[in-house]
This record gives sequence, C-alpha cells and structure tokens, in this order.
Amino acid sequence: MDVTTCIVTSLIEPVSTKSISIIVPVYNERKNIHRLVEKLEGVLVGFVWEVIFVDDDSPDKTSSVARRIAATKNYVRCIQRIGRRGLSSATIEGVCSSSADYIAIMDGDLQHDESILPTMIKALDSGCDLVVGSRHVVGGGSSDGFSSPFREMLSTAGKKIACAMTRTNLSDPMSGFFMTRRALFMATAHKLSGQGFKILLDFIMSSKNNISIIEVPYIFRKREFGESKLDIMVMLQFAILILDRLFHGYIPIRFIAFASVGVIGVLVNVMVMVSLKDAGFGFVTSQSVGIFVSIVCNFELNNRFTYRTNRLRGYKYWLGLAAFMLISGLGGVANVGISSMLYTNKFTDIFSSLAGSIVGVVWNYAISSTLIWRFK
Ligand code: GDD
Ligand code: MN
Repeated sequence: MDVTTCIVTSLIEPVSTKSISIIVPVYNERKNIHRLVEKLEGVLVGFVWEVIFVDDDSPDKTSSVARRIAATKNYVRCIQRIGRRGLSSATIEGVCSSSADYIAIMDGDLQHDESILPTMIKALDSGCDLVVGSRHVVGGGSSDGFSSPFREMLSTAGKKIACAMTRTNLSDPMSGFFMTRRALFMATAHKLSGQGFKILLDFIMSSKNNISIIEVPYIFRKREFGESKLDIMVMLQFAILILDRLFHGYIPIRFIAFASVGVIGVLVNVMVMVSLKDAGFGFVTSQSVGIFVSIVCNFELNNRFTYRTNRLRGYKYWLGLAAFMLISGLGGVANVGISSMLYTNKFTDIFSSLAGSIVGVVWNYAISSTLIWRFK
C-alpha cells in the first residue's frame, strides 16, 4: 500500500458537506474534555460534526462532566461503559453509535492537534480512504521532547513490526489519530480484535489491501492534565494483537495470552528447580516447589494480563487461586495420562510429551475461562 504525505495547505476554502463524528475514548480525562470541545468548535466552524466521548466509567467521573457539556450542546454525546476497559473496544463502540459519513478517532487529552482535522477531511473528500495524523513526516513531531534511548528503541522496533504486519510504509503506524469513511470502518467491524491500544493497526490489518492512505503531519502535544494509561501490560497486549492477526483470528486471543503465560510458567518451573537442586535439595523436592511457584506465578500473570478486564480481587483472588491450583493439578494428571498412553503406543517421547502438554493447556484454559475468571 502506498502512503502519500499531505502538507497542510490553506484552509480558506468551502467546507465539506459530509457529516463527521469525532470519536474520543476517554479514561480519567475530566479536566481535558471541556477544553477539547472548545478547540473542536474553533476548528470545525461550518462543518456538520459531533463529538462522541466513550468513557469506561472513569473514577474521576469524566462521563458526568461530558453529559453536563452535552446538556447544552447537541453536538456532544457521551457513552458510558460500565464494567469494561480498553481504548480499542471503546473506539469501536463509539463508531458503532455514529451515523456520520466520516469518523475521526482522537485522544481526549489534547495531545492530538485538532487543527489538522479540516485537512484530513479534505483528503477524504478528494477520494482518499484513510488519513493518518503522523508525528514522523516532515512538519510533524513531538513536543514531549526528550525520549529515553530505550523508548526510542522500543518505538522503532514496534514501528518496523507494525509496518511489516500492515504491509504499508506508514511513518507512524502506532498513531491513534486518524480519519476514515464510516462505511469502510464498519466493513471491518466484525473482524477487528478490539484488544489493546492499537486500533489503527487493527483496522488496517482487517481491511482489504487496496485502501489509499495519506499521512498528515502534526505535533504531538505534551499532556497537561491527567496521566498516560500506556503501561507494560499494554505493550504485551500489542504483542498479542500481532499474534492474533498472524493466526487470522482463528485462535481466540485469550488462548494465545494464556498459552504464552504457560510458556513463562514452564521457564519459571525449570529455573526454580535448577536453583533448588544447586542448593542441595533432591530432584523431587526441587521439582515440586518449582511446579508450585510456577502455578502461583501463572495465576498472577493470567489475573493481571490474560483476564485483565475481569481481574479477581479480595477474597475472590484467593478462591480463584485455590481453584486454579486444583484445575492445573487435574490438567497435569491429564497431561501425564495422555502422554504415557501415546508413548506406550510407540509414539516418540517428544511427540507424546507435546501432545500431553497441548491437552493440558487446552484443558486449563477451557476450565479457567469458564469457572475462575467468570466467578464475578
Ligand atoms: N474508554 C477508554 N478506555 N479510554 C481509554 C482507555 C480505556 O481503557 N485507556 C486510555 N484511554 C484514552 C485516554 O483517556 C486518552 O484519551 C486516549 O485513550 C489515549 O490514552 P493515553 O494514555 O493518553 O495514551 P498515550 O498518550 O500514552 O498514547 C498515545 O500515543 C500512542 C502512540 O504512541 C495515544 O495517542 C495512542 O492512541 C497512540 O497509539
Ligand atoms: Mn496521551
């Protein structure tokens, strides 16, 4: 796919007649949304537009603030999702609630420069399918200033992977600021994974290959109020999104996460066993402790990562842990049973062991998903 760069041109021209919904996922942004509405009012004079805030029941009551603004401005709407979290899924639901011709996706913390919206709209009017706000084309940048070498490295690696996955040469594939035709987005809606932060990547990977893309430069502003929600778990979710797309959605995303955690568990098990053996303990003791530690570790990781959205807390955490141990124990028994049956039937040791492990992990996943993280 070819990506062209569009330089911001003069805006003193007739405005588009197309209707536009600006979808803004928000979490704890009460101090920013009022200013964002004012900024949008400033740049979208003459356009037919609305802004839809999609809030995941923020503790700071962003929804209440949004509704207060909406009470006097009919071009402001708010969707309050209860018991849900996630930038991508919030964005998708915002788009589903729109009936406009065009949709724009942008952050609610004022880091995305709204003044390029008219240029983005013009690009769609002239036939382009997707317009991406980019920090990395001439004229773009970030006023955040210094970024650590580690972050730079992560960002470059992420960008390379993202470009390969989307088969594009986008300069800013991680951008969360873009515009497209609503119909085009809706055509992919059922294919989107909806996980994590990277809705643009998700969208491009789920669309047909021939969409035309234009990048428009902008300067990513510094956040003034509130804080970023991007953490290590979000980065892991990015990795899972990539795996999910590689498997074309045939394997449930939760299963991929669960199985990845399982692999970490195996490593923990071996590490603990080796350390204890080195310290002079016998194999059976060392391996038993290794298994115990890896099960607890897997439970913790699954609770924080795989099932992040229905994370167990308080007494449910301990109930869940006890159930997880029981289930993993039974999974272990099934694993030994299947692998020894295959082995005695003349299959190789590696094949038998692998088949046993696969049955074990599928069992653990199926039961954990239905019993443990559905406790609530
Ligand atoms: N509804 C909802 N639910 N909104 C969320 C959630 C969530 O779970 N998590 C974050 N948001 C909202 C924030 O309130 C903000 O409006 C927007 O999504 C972006 O979140 P930030 O936490 O400000 O992200 P960032 O500034 O670190 O990341 C930015 O840069 C990335 C590129 O590196 C964003 O623009 C990303 O979209 C972009 O991919
Ligand atoms: Mn931000």
